[in-house]
Amino acid sequence: METLRLKADQDGIAQAAVLLRAGECVAMPTETVYGLAADATNAEAVARVYQAKGRPSFNPLIVHLPSVEAAQAVARFDAEAERLAAAFWPGALTMVLPLHPRAGIAGIVTAGLDSVALRVPAHPVARALLLAADRPLAAPSANPSGRISPTTADHVIDERTGLGGRIAAVLDAGPCAVGVESTIVGWQDGSATLLRPGGIPAESIEDALGAPLARPATNAPLTSPGQLASHYAPEASLRLNATEALPGETLLTFGRAGDFSLSESGDLVEAAARLFDILHKADRTGRPIAVQPIPDHGLGRAINDRLRRAAAPR
Ligand code: TXA
Ligand code: MG
Repeated sequence: METLRLKADQDGIAQAAVLLRAGECVAMPTETVYGLAADATNAEAVARVYQAKGRPSFNPLIVHLPSVEAAQAVARFDAEAERLAAAFWPGALTMVLPLHPRAGIAGIVTAGLDSVALRVPAHPVARALLLAADRPLAAPSANPSGRISPTTADHVIDERTGLGGRIAAVLDAGPCAVGVESTIVGWQDGSATLLRPGGIPAESIEDALGAPLARPATNAPLTSPGQLASHYAPEASLRLNATEALPGETLLTFGRAGDFSLSESGDLVEAAARLFDILHKADRTGRPIAVQPIPDHGLGRAINDRLRRAAAPR
């Protein structure tokens, strides 16, 4: 595909909104870095983000919203979260909060967790795009996995080190003001915790809270909950590379029809988009789960990574 470079004027923003509502990925400027945005309510659109980035596993993504009110419709805010929202939104703060289960956020966005990372960006073009698309937008940084985060449209569109040719469009609003990703705060054992240092200094957040931020257990950079096997483990046991169901098993199929088909046509994008929802549904049958082999390339690697974690002994 040819990646369109759209001017960040009214027309360009309207065009980007149409693409997003059609399930395409569009790189958008934010004050921190360019993000690769997709409709957070559309699992296949979000799966395309992982595919374009070549992300080897499903890390949960940040959901971007146009206002504090819109954010409150997606997650539960306690008094501290309210205070931080009032102090730093719109801006370079992301908060990890309990997800409202019926907010319509696709399971692939949170990687099946019951929390969600939310941010109200300050960049006027990001805000205009959120309003025009009228959808919450999931967006990781708009770089291929393992590459440097992009702070200009040129970084994004570079064919060799960026995503040129792999995404529908980039909205070009010049360089990002902040240039490093947002600061991420979550609540661990009831304490506000610095999960990732970023665009807003921790000290400013501590001033607003009137208390120090807790640090995650280790000094290691944020280890995504996606790295923890238990977060993906269903209640039921899981058997991989199954050709057929054994008596009593629920079979997840790939490349053919079935009660729990990841993709009848064998499409890895569709399978990635459905994975977390189908695992939840299969688990609700209360029976052991068997999964047919998934090709181990492209998004198949991310799917197999998650399935292996779910099947690992616990
Ligand atoms: O500035 C930014 O934050 C940029 C712009 C585009 O907004 N976005 C960004 O996204 O940096 P990304 O995907 O590169 O980083 C998201 C981080 C990941 O480290 C992920 O593990 C964490 O947020 N995260 C997302 N949801 C989470 C959750 N439910 N619990 C804990 N961490 C979460
Ligand atoms: Mg990133």
